[in-house]
Amino acid sequence: MTDMNSSEFPGFIPGGGDLAAFLHANKAAVDAALEDAGALLFRGFDVPDPESFDAAIGGYGEAGFTYEDSLSNAVRTNVTPRVFTANEAPPTTEIFLHHEMAQTPLYPAKLFFYCEIAPQEGGATPLCRSDWVLERLTAMAPQFVARAQEHGVRYTNVMPSSDDAGSGQGRSWRSTLSASDEAGAEARLAQLGYSWEWQKDGSLKATTPALDAVRIMPDGRRTFFNQLIAAFRGWADSRNDPGRAITFGDGSPITQGDMAPAIAIADELTYDLAWLAGDVALIDNFLVMHGRRPFVGKRRVLASLIA
Ligand code: FE2
Repeated sequence: MTDMNSSEFPGFIPGGGDLAAFLHANKAAVDAALEDAGALLFRGFDVPDPESFDAAIGGYGEAGFTYEDSLSNAVRTNVTPRVFTANEAPPTTEIFLHHEMAQTPLYPAKLFFYCEIAPQEGGATPLCRSDWVLERLTAMAPQFVARAQEHGVRYTNVMPSSDDAGSGQGRSWRSTLSASDEAGAEARLAQLGYSWEWQKDGSLKATTPALDAVRIMPDGRRTFFNQLIAAFRGWADSRNDPGRAITFGDGSPITQGDMAPAIAIADELTYDLAWLAGDVALIDNFLVMHGRRPFVGKRRVLASLIA
């Protein structure tokens, strides 16, 4: 094990042998490094297949957060009970920076990623420190940050009646809400504090209650914990208009002018994690945003969520 006390981003942990055993034996040091860097890359360990990735997650030993129970909009397929495909959206689709599921009231604390097959070209996972973004954004656009912090933000998403794997936001309302019919979907939305509107084609337009846009970490660091960048830049498909996807919590619009500084700062602070087959990354979902670059060739990156 090398020095894990540096604030290098992401923390890089070269090694060899069994990752499950390593994570089990070094849990406290791994967690300290994660708290410091926000993202860790385990490279050179012996993780040949999804089963050994699953075992590594078991070695880490924290409780999982299941995709079925989540309100994630992404279409995914389970490989083991706690490991699933990261997003089935087409290779040409960029998935912009976000905190996992921060557009819903239910989100995981950490994420594991595993590269089973590295793409021929592109396909990096951009990572961005959200505390650094918020610090810079507060200096550059203090009024926007103050409004977002005071009112929170709302997200509006139109969910199809059956899965649309051609979209990064294609998960059906039946699957998203674990509902078999419209009454079940409405009961779940009401319980979550959403408002909704059924569309003529059977799809469902849902708007969240006001959700926090800024999160304060236990050590006092403040992070841009939301899904504004991904929603604004990326929620475009046959059902969704990204210009209408986000508002402040009081319903007033969040404009291009509001988002431009956040996007520019985040782009500047982004580190592209270029995958090698066998790599495993661990990400603090409260501290670091992630996304997916477009790619060419076959790419298989799997994910698992920690509660
Ligand atoms: Fe994600």
